[in-house]
Amino acid sequence: MPLNPSDSAQSSLNADAAASGDSRTKLSRTSVALHWTVAISMIGMLFFGLYLDDLERGDAKTALVALHKSLGSLILFLVIARIWWRTRQGALQPLGNHPHWQHIAARASHHVLLFGTLAMPLSGLLRSIGRGRPIDIFGFPFIPQIFAEKNEILSAIGSTLHEWIAYALLIVITGHILAALKHFLIDGDGTLQRMLGARVGQSASGKV
Ligand code: HEM
Ligand code: HEM
Repeated sequence: MPLNPSDSAQSSLNADAAASGDSRTKLSRTSVALHWTVAISMIGMLFFGLYLDDLERGDAKTALVALHKSLGSLILFLVIARIWWRTRQGALQPLGNHPHWQHIAARASHHVLLFGTLAMPLSGLLRSIGRGRPIDIFGFPFIPQIFAEKNEILSAIGSTLHEWIAYALLIVITGHILAALKHFLIDGDGTLQRMLGARVGQSASGKV
């Protein structure tokens, strides 16, 4: 029981802070929602893009490329919101008693993932701008036509980045998923549960 009313007010303030921002034992709803919406969108878009790559030219491909560009442009806004939110909240505090190098590797891989999620839509836009095409989002103008004809250099930079960052991201995402499974199955330290919105224990291992 609080000793005086100001203690009670303080504990309710702390609860509010934990609800709206990230703490070590619980992540905010915003962090959880942004992680999973961006994660599902990126995995879906990577496979969508690779499917398009193999598709023969024709009306179906033209319609699907337009869909890919609209979805990709929308995802850019989601990614910007996520990076803004992560910058405000700071990096996730690690759970579990892992060697220091593992914390460094986890933090570095999170930076690479955040960079990759930004670089994919931006390189896609660059590729289309370089080809002299306007970009719309489901029919609403987003970026007007900037070059009257194809700009060979911008188009080549955009296509190369779009393709190679996609392959690099697929590798880093695979490692990221394996790391999450290791935390869950081997370490049992609550890292995956925390990203699913659960509150984890105060102990160094994070166990509830
Ligand atoms: C969310 C982010 C995105 C992801 C994960 C993604 C992923 C991919 C992948 C894996 C490919 C196949 C590899 C390649 O040929 O480059 C691709 C192709 C392509 N992407 Fe994206 N993309 C994204 C956003 C965008 C955006 C915003 C645009 C343009 C506004 C765009 C335009 C294209 C185009 C034009 C192709 C080539 C399709 C073809 O003709 O084969 N992408 N994308
Ligand atoms: C099934 C797929 C995925 C699983 C199971 C998963 C799981 C996790 C877990 C457990 C964490 C917390 C790590 C910690 O506390 O140190 C995390 C963080 C993170 N994940 Fe994923 N993830 C998945 C897909 C993705 C994808 C596709 C991306 C981006 C392309 C991504 C980007 C990130 C980033 C940047 C963080 C750092 C925290 C943040 O900014 O939200 N994840 N993920």
